[in-house]
Amino acid sequence: MTLRHFLDFWSIEASELRTILDEAKRMKAARAGWPKGRVDESAPLAGHALAMIFEKSSTRTRFSFDMGMRQLGGETIVASSGDMQLGRGETVEDTARVLSRFVDIVMIRANSHGDVEAFAEAATIPVINGLTDQSHPCQIMADLQTLEEHGLDLKGARLAWVGDGNNVCTSFIQAAPKFGFSLAIGTPGRYAPDEDAVEMARDLQGRIDLYDSAEEAVAGADVVIADTFVSMGDADAEDRLKTLDPFAVTEDLMSLAAKEAVFLHCLPAHRGEEVDAEVIDGPQSLVFDEAENRLHAQKAILRWCLNA
Ligand code: CP
Ligand code: NVA
Repeated sequence: MTLRHFLDFWSIEASELRTILDEAKRMKAARAGWPKGRVDESAPLAGHALAMIFEKSSTRTRFSFDMGMRQLGGETIVASSGDMQLGRGETVEDTARVLSRFVDIVMIRANSHGDVEAFAEAATIPVINGLTDQSHPCQIMADLQTLEEHGLDLKGARLAWVGDGNNVCTSFIQAAPKFGFSLAIGTPGRYAPDEDAVEMARDLQGRIDLYDSAEEAVAGADVVIADTFVSMGDADAEDRLKTLDPFAVTEDLMSLAAKEAVFLHCLPAHRGEEVDAEVIDGPQSLVFDEAENRLHAQKAILRWCLNA
């Protein structure tokens, strides 16, 4: 059977993604009110082990995958690449071949997307992308779960991304044709989103509208999404903070969106930079439900990858 990697939305059918999202919601509801360390009723991943490799920092991805695997009845091993021979130049391919002999599934957060693809190519077990310079698909599954739980029908929903056209933005672009929402993106030209991703999404009948102002992107939107102006690995922090400043999400900007619009941010956030405290800590913000849903969405991703 072909391995079920979770690397990017392009390679996964819309129907499979829908199954994952529904399963995430079902599993979350089934354990509502339980202590967080209690194993799910059926312990579907009992006997399975997940290895996690981090080349970059992480709070949400690390703890949600770890707790998620435990709730599914499985085991976890976490390492930063600096503690591994990977950090001393062992190839990603050899690392993948070796870990494939020890564990059942790997989640990797890497600097280079190409490294994750090479890892998956050499592995004989499923591999999950836990963020790269190019994408962050696990995050978007949690975000979409959050929106549906809030009552939004993704089909035809108007999402607006403002700020840097970064890795998280690229995963939203990829998700648009798969889930049927439209995406308006407001960025300065220098930080526009990945052109190939935009073209590919449009080829798949996704509606992606590009603007060079935050106001145009947000006008009438059901959802306003921001992310840090300086991602992990970005060297040009000073220029980014200056150039992206007009794209900050303020209460004034939110007032241009639909009346019931909600605000998302994958976190970590920088209040006073990409978003004002009044917005992220205000009534339209869903950011902590969004963070919690990393746990539930990833449990569904783990089960899908392992067909369990
Ligand atoms: N949103 C997210 O991936 O957070 P971490 O970097 O803390 O994992
Ligand atoms: N765009 C951010 C997301 C962090 C979760 C980064 O890559 O640093």
